[in-house]
Amino acid sequence: RNAREANLDDSQLVVVANRLPVDLEQLPDGTTRWKRSPGGLVTALEPVLRSNKGAWVGWPGVADVDVEPIVEDGLSMYPVRLSAQEIADYYEGFSNGTLWPLYHDVVVKPVYDRSWWNAYVKVNRRFAEETAKVARPNATVWIQDYQLQLVPKMLRMLRPDLTIGFFQHIPFPPIEIFMQLPWRAEIVEGLLGADLVGFHLPGGAQNFLYLANKLAGHTVTRGQIGVRSKFGEVNVGFRVVRVGAFPISIASSEIDELAKSKSVRARAKQIRAELGNPSRIMLGVDRLDYTKGINIRLLALSELFAEGRLDPADNVFVQLATPSRERVDHYMQMRDEIERNVGRINGDYGEVGRPVVHYIHRPIPRSELIAFFVAADVMLVTPVRDGMNLVAKEYVACRSDLGGALLLSEFTGAAMELRQSYLVNPHDLDGVKDTLIEALTQSKDEGRSRMRALRRQVLTHDVDKWAKAFLGALALPSEKS
Ligand code: ADP
Ligand code: F6P
Repeated sequence: RNAREANLDDSQLVVVANRLPVDLEQLPDGTTRWKRSPGGLVTALEPVLRSNKGAWVGWPGVADVDVEPIVEDGLSMYPVRLSAQEIADYYEGFSNGTLWPLYHDVVVKPVYDRSWWNAYVKVNRRFAEETAKVARPNATVWIQDYQLQLVPKMLRMLRPDLTIGFFQHIPFPPIEIFMQLPWRAEIVEGLLGADLVGFHLPGGAQNFLYLANKLAGHTVTRGQIGVRSKFGEVNVGFRVVRVGAFPISIASSEIDELAKSKSVRARAKQIRAELGNPSRIMLGVDRLDYTKGINIRLLALSELFAEGRLDPADNVFVQLATPSRERVDHYMQMRDEIERNVGRINGDYGEVGRPVVHYIHRPIPRSELIAFFVAADVMLVTPVRDGMNLVAKEYVACRSDLGGALLLSEFTGAAMELRQSYLVNPHDLDGVKDTLIEALTQSKDEGRSRMRALRRQVLTHDVDKWAKAFLGALALPSEKS
């Protein structure tokens, strides 16, 4: 149904994100269909929005198409048109060639290109204008992520009646790193157009608070920011902008239920059999991104096989990788490197009909993914930097049997909450190898007690709690006292 026909285009809660929760797919025969968009943002926000019957403003995932607004299960979606050049400059360029590496500890060198910046400003303005048309008087607008950091200020200028929240889904970097950005003051001022700016961790929120003073000259509060509490405040003229930490999560009980279903259990058994009933299955599930540390896992494994500490005849590794940002240089290079390493390990240690690394480069349907989580003895989550990492939480939610072990990088947001996982420093290869052996050989009791504690955390802190905490803080009165 068309959103206008359904008369839902005057929504009270409007989410604005670079992507819609669905991507338009153009098939070879010229027809089109919608498929789920990649990434953690969509995983987290989709259930929240569907239950709130809100609206979502975003790009439909392909260039130069005019799509009518659509309504699905009470969610109205408003596509924003981007040209091929804008995708190259605003999305692949400034968002993923400048901001993404800058905010992830400069793991690769960010490119500072003025034409990319100009496109970022122009596209952010378009998102603000589209949102201004959709939101009804005094509505709440919730802007998402690093691609749209200028929208809060632009939208406030167009629609001062709105309550505006912003949430950053990726890390907010250390001050010294952020200061590299030629447009640092504009970004900070853009974000300060919101009434509430949210980050996953208190550290990121604290960095932003400091910069609001240093780069925009506003007075700010000094106390430590808490988790979902003790917000920082920035005095922007007559307004107070709150700054807080809200660690994102998943629809925990829904995933828990799915993982308990008979069909998923049966499929998990079948997966084990298809893999040749090895004694241990290790699993990686990621967007194919250089921040995820996929090569670190491969390196650790190949050294363990070479040293004879792990038997390739009895241990398999499955890497499920969703294609991502495939036209950005560093993503192409990383894919080549990973695929070379997969080939090398299988060449060195596999047998005919029995590879040691199983690598799938395409998105996996949700129920199949959950069956893999249920089947995996050790889940490998080794990013060099990650804002949160929902995969780690999904794995835990799937293990009501208290089986399995989570190996988790200290450099993920999730590591702050999932303290009973096997924590590793991904830069310390020997440490990763030793901890992997520990996880693979844990006693049943040790595993059960760790998983029980992890599950308590994940099941009591779900995405609903995240959304309520953020929207609750956004609804607090914000006049200056
Ligand atoms: P990011 O937002 O950086 O992609 P997250 O770990 O927070 O990282 O979220 C990734 C989301 O994408 C999770 O919900 C995960 O289940 C999903 N996902 C990752 N890899 C795959 C895959 N190969 N197939 C299907 N879904 C995937
Ligand atoms: O926060 C992670 C994130 O960058 C989201 O903003 C994004 O939607 C998702 O990962 C997937 O990336 P992309 O939209 O670039 O494919």
